[in-house]
Amino acid sequence: MYALLKQIHNINGMLVLTVLLVAVILNLVFFLMKKPYHKLAKISALVGLILTHLQIVLGLVLYFISPVGFSNFSGEAMKETTSRLYLVEHPIGMIVAAVLITIGYKATKNVNLNDNQKYIKVLINYLLALAIVSYLIPWFVWK
Ligand code: HEM
Repeated sequence: MYALLKQIHNINGMLVLTVLLVAVILNLVFFLMKKPYHKLAKISALVGLILTHLQIVLGLVLYFISPVGFSNFSGEAMKETTSRLYLVEHPIGMIVAAVLITIGYKATKNVNLNDNQKYIKVLINYLLALAIVSYLIPWFVWK
């Protein structure tokens, strides 16, 4: 169960990164082309939202069954960089990224925003989220 969930969390994490990048590129391209808010821009943002939310749920379960998750919590562990990443920085940072993505996606449905404002809100929130996710992924597990 633990090994499988960790593997799924790993693969879905890479999907999240890829789809967020695609959503940013599509929103940027359609914005620069001055297109009305484009269906593909919205669909890519929606897929990014769904995969990120799924990843948060998977991460929350993993947090309580992983040996580097909640069960490892101690003052000593907080002094160690890798332990602290898994215990605090990775979970909290990823939740903040998911909130940004949710705010960005909501803008695509806001009838009070014009098309330019929709593109800009998605771009700002998704770019920030992408930066946080890229920074907090434990890349060293592939070294
Ligand atoms: C967009 C959100 C997230 C992404 C992209 C992401 C990505 C990843 C990746 C790539 C790994 C390495 C997996 C491996 O070692 O094979 C990992 C590990 C882990 N993640 Fe996440 N994660 C996210 C959110 C979360 C959240 C919200 C939590 C907890 C509340 C969490 C808890 C963990 C834990 C505990 C591990 C270590 C698993 C282990 O080695 O036992 N993750 N994450």
